[in-house]
Amino acid sequence: MADRFNTIAGWTLFSGVVALGLSSISAHYFQAGKVEHAKEEAGGEGAKDEKPFEAYLASADAAKGEATFKKCTSCHTVDQGGANGLGPNLYGILGSAMASGRGGFAYSDGLKAKGGKWDWASMNQWLTSPSAFVTGTKMSFAGITDPQERANLMVFLNSKGSNLPLPPVPEVKEGAAPEAAAVVGDAAKGQKSFAKCASCHTVTPGAPAGLGPNLAGVFGAKVAGGSFAYSDGLKAKGGNWDEASLDAWLTSPSAYASGTKMSFAGLPDAQERANVIAYLKEAK
Ligand code: HEC
Ligand code: HEC
Repeated sequence: MADRFNTIAGWTLFSGVVALGLSSISAHYFQAGKVEHAKEEAGGEGAKDEKPFEAYLASADAAKGEATFKKCTSCHTVDQGGANGLGPNLYGILGSAMASGRGGFAYSDGLKAKGGKWDWASMNQWLTSPSAFVTGTKMSFAGITDPQERANLMVFLNSKGSNLPLPPVPEVKEGAAPEAAAVVGDAAKGQKSFAKCASCHTVTPGAPAGLGPNLAGVFGAKVAGGSFAYSDGLKAKGGNWDEASLDAWLTSPSAYASGTKMSFAGLPDAQERANVIAYLKEAK
């Protein structure tokens, strides 16, 4: 037990150093930045171009986490039945309730009031900045800024009596505009697709109408604005042919203008429609 007393003396000393050093300098100095990180990495909200924390967990290395745990051993043990020191024993900590009274440990009121469980998200926030996560915590530790280092450490902790399943990595959606904007038409390909239309339509200026009107200059022109015997449905439509209206029309003519005379099922492929529209733009 003499050893134990030395260790306790060591803990006390260390805690003094930590309290003076880390907590008064690092914690206060860096706190604002860390709170931000904690939010982004744990929740995922507003972290558009940051790698989600789940991805760090997916690639985490428990052996590296064990090495990082050296930063904790001055206060914590992690093996089953290990003694409490300045901090509680951490065996099986992931998945357990916060401040669950491990071996009668005297937690701060802040941590006791927190409630909830230690899961991936809460542990991530805690290890980013204990003092930001729990006001008035007794854990005098500035936190770990590097997300990969936190992930490694958490996977290591998880291997010590917890074994929580890793959270799924959310898909990161690139860019802002979800649909149409992404599809850029290729007029040369559109010309090939126009073979599907050529049985009824001509595109060269002045060429005669067939089963359908001549389409030279149709892009930007009035809907049903040519010299053709249009259906009442299309005539009633109004407006001009632009990318959006042509896209809707070519997706399904009969859905766009009920009673249309254009007996054509439509082009289901968005890229093919964009190509044809690009081709029609050039047909003047
Ligand atoms: C200077 C001592 C010290 C260091 C270093 C330290 N801790 Fe702590 N830890 C504490 C104290 C004290 C508490 C109790 C906090 C409270 O009651 O507010 C605690 C609490 C915890 C808890 C919550 C336990 C529970 O039962 O809810 C976890 C998890 C934890 N520490 C993990 C770590 C990890 C991981 C590290 C290393 C990166 C670390 N700590 C470093 C002192 C320390
Ligand atoms: C079976 C014949 C037929 C086919 C095939 C056909 N169309 Fe038509 N199209 C018509 C008819 C008929 C109209 C007139 C519709 C109405 O009045 O309701 C028309 C109207 C149009 C109009 C509106 C013209 C205007 O003056 O407002 C556009 C644009 C058009 N077609 C494009 C196409 C494209 C592009 C294709 C091929 C992907 C195609 N059509 C395939 C018969 C056809």
